[in-house]
Amino acid sequence: MTDTATPFRWGILGVARINRSLVGPLASNGHQLLAVASRSLARAKTYADVQGIPRAYGSYEELLADPEIDAVYIPLPHSLHVEWAVKAAEAGKHVLVEKPVALEGAGVRTLQSAARTHDVVITEAFMYRHHPIVAKARELTHDGTIGRLQGVRGTFSFALDRPGDTRLDPEYGGGSLWDVGCYPVSFARTIVGVRPVSVQAAANWSPAKVDLSCFAQILFPDDVVAHVHSSFESPFKTEMEIIGSEGRLLIRRPFKPETSETIEVMTAKGTTTVTVEGPALYQGEVDDVRAAAREGRPPLVTLDESLDNIETLVAILKAARNGNTVDV
Ligand SMILES: NC(=O)c1ccc[n+]([C@@H]2O[C@H](COP(=O)([O-])OP(=O)(O)OC[C@H]3O[C@@H](n4cnc5c(N)ncnc54)[C@H](OP(=O)(O)O)[C@@H]3O)[C@@H](O)[C@H]2O)c1
Repeated sequence: MTDTATPFRWGILGVARINRSLVGPLASNGHQLLAVASRSLARAKTYADVQGIPRAYGSYEELLADPEIDAVYIPLPHSLHVEWAVKAAEAGKHVLVEKPVALEGAGVRTLQSAARTHDVVITEAFMYRHHPIVAKARELTHDGTIGRLQGVRGTFSFALDRPGDTRLDPEYGGGSLWDVGCYPVSFARTIVGVRPVSVQAAANWSPAKVDLSCFAQILFPDDVVAHVHSSFESPFKTEMEIIGSEGRLLIRRPFKPETSETIEVMTAKGTTTVTVEGPALYQGEVDDVRAAAREGRPPLVTLDESLDNIETLVAILKAARNGNTVDV
């Protein structure tokens, strides 16, 4: 049993937009949000005042030096994830770092080494993985409900209309695949349950050469195929479909599931709906870091899983650039 009576004390690096989804979970259920840091002390102080966070720091280093902080949440631009996760680990903090955890396999290996050396938990903030709908979808995929698994189809798109966003900047790991495509790729791998073999892909590139839309085909062992789409240039849409020889599963909110979420099961007999109850989105990943830290067990999203995912994403980008099939 995880100790939830002793507060687990968190700090946040950066006043990011996504923080609005995390400040609640980081201060609930036995967690304490003790500090926030920003590159600007004034911004950190204002944010701390508004959110009721006791401590504000004008640099990330100062927050990491606070001995009363157990863990940090890192919502920085993509290209800064590895650097700050390593610094946090060196300071003895457990780490919940936003997706994508790294922009190349070597970065994930660096994190694996840092986690081992400093005996801390480092895990990628794929909040959807903590909802039991994922385990239920995997169960229905492999228990014969839809026959033999043939493929997975998934999409995550939204219209990105913020000029200057780091998501459009190659220096920061921009592109729709890194930002939202990482979700359907992760979901497909989680459902199939093994590392992909190879990929093919095509993309629409921005003038700065980040992908604005990406279509990928991922080949898994046993002739299982995933088709994945990500985009910054079409309206918001998320969906995962799992296709078998006897039917299919449809999940309409795979990446931001509601506490009560559904899977539609379509077979020759008709359509039924399976309802799955889960924790509030984002609470699961926050609780998992504490449980992994206090119980000395791996987090749900291990860095081995992240490594498969990141290497698949790297291969997709390479395939989209050169038009060839690329091994993962
Ligand atoms: N899991 C989810 O549901 C979800 C949703 C959205 C985003 N995300 C992820 O969360 C991360 C942050 O996304 P976001 O849209 O919230 O980011 P954002 O609003 O652009 O904020 C990023 C923060 O990083 C800090 N930063 C440090 N160096 C920076 C630099 N050179 N340029 C810009 N910012 C810098 C800034 O904080 P200070 O200036 O205060 O230091 C900034 O506020 C990304 O990895 C993204 O993929 C996850």
